[in-house]
Amino acid sequence: MKFAAVLILTISYFSGICEAYHEDKHDLKKLHYLLEPLVCDEVTARRGENVTLPCVLRTKPSHFKVKWTKLEPTPRGVENIILITNGHAQKQYGVLGPRAHLRQKHELDVSLRLTDLELEDDGRYRCELINGIDDESVEITLRIEGVVFPYQSKHGRYKLTHAEAKQACAEQDATLATYRQLYRAWTEGLDWCNAGWLIDGTVHYPILKPRAVCGGDLEPGIRSYGPKHRTKDHFDAFCFTSATTGSVFFIDRHLNFAEAVQACKEEGASLARVGQLYSAWHFQRLDRCDGGWLQDGSVRFPITSPRKNCGGLTEPSVRSFGYPNKHHRLYGAYCYR
Ligand SMILES: *[C@@H]1O[C@H](CO)[C@@H](O)[C@H](O)[C@H]1NC(C)=O
Repeated sequence: MKFAAVLILTISYFSGICEAYHEDKHDLKKLHYLLEPLVCDEVTARRGENVTLPCVLRTKPSHFKVKWTKLEPTPRGVENIILITNGHAQKQYGVLGPRAHLRQKHELDVSLRLTDLELEDDGRYRCELINGIDDESVEITLRIEGVVFPYQSKHGRYKLTHAEAKQACAEQDATLATYRQLYRAWTEGLDWCNAGWLIDGTVHYPILKPRAVCGGDLEPGIRSYGPKHRTKDHFDAFCFTSATTGSVFFIDRHLNFAEAVQACKEEGASLARVGQLYSAWHFQRLDRCDGGWLQDGSVRFPITSPRKNCGGLTEPSVRSFGYPNKHHRLYGAYCYR
C-alpha cells in the first residue's frame, strides 16, 4: 500500500459539546489507518440543534468511499446507512438522509452534519473508510441531552405492553428511553420504585435510596428484570424527551379538565404533554407549587427548588397527582405554546 489513508477524529468546535474522554482502550486492536479518538468520542446536543460528527481523512486516496452508518439503537443485522461519499458526490439514505450532509470544511473533511436533531438520533455512529483492502472505521456517540421520566397508564400500574409503552411516550412528546439514558438519569437523581420498559425491550427501575418496598436493601443502582415478553408482559414506561421549541405556562384558576382545555385554547395554546412539562422543568427550571391539568388527563406540578408546604418534596422533581376525576374543578392548567 503506497498511500496511507488515515482517518483521524478531529476535535474542533461543533455546536454540540464533546464530553467523554477515553484514555485506556487497551482492549481495542491497534488501527493502522485510523487514529483512536484523540480527545473524545461523544458529542452532546439538544433536540432541534445541529451537530457535527467529526471524521477527517489524513491523506486523500485516489479511490475510496466513506460510509456513515448509525449503529444503535437499531435492530441487529440491519445496516442503517446514512450517507456514502466517494469524495466527489454524496448520497443520502434512510430516515436520517434528508437531515444529513457532509460538512466539507476542507478537502479531507468527511465529517457528518446532522440538522434539526430528533430524539431518535441519539446513539452510536460509525465513519468507515472503504478503500478496498484496509477498511477502517471510527465510532462516535451522539448524545441527545434531555430528561427521563416514568410514565404510568391512566388505567393504573403495570398496564402497558412494549408497543403501548412506546406509544404512550410518543403521545407525551417523548421516546422510550435507552438504558444509557436511564442510567444517566439515575446518576442525576432519578429514584423510582416502579419497573418500566426501555426501548430495547428490557425492564428496569432506578433506585438511589434503597428501601424494603423497592427491592430490599441492595446497593443503590438500576434494578433489572432483563428482557421481558413484549406483548404478554405489562409494565410502566421510562420516557425520554429533550428541549422543545415552545414553552409551558400555568393558568392559575380552579378548572375541571374541559375548562382547562378551553383556558389554554383561549391563550392560543393547548394543554401541555407530560414530556413538555418535564422539558420545561429540566431546561427552563419551571417551578410551580400548583397542580395543573395536562393533556393526558393527569395533574402534576414541577418543582426545582424543594421547600416547605409544597408536596413534601425533598428533591427537585415533577410530582404527579395521578389521573383525578375530570369533572372536579380543583386544578389550574399547564399550557404549551
Ligand atoms: C441548522 O442548520 C440549518 C441549515 O443549515 C439552519 O437553517 C438552522 O438555523 C440551524 N439551526 C440551528 C439551531 O442552528
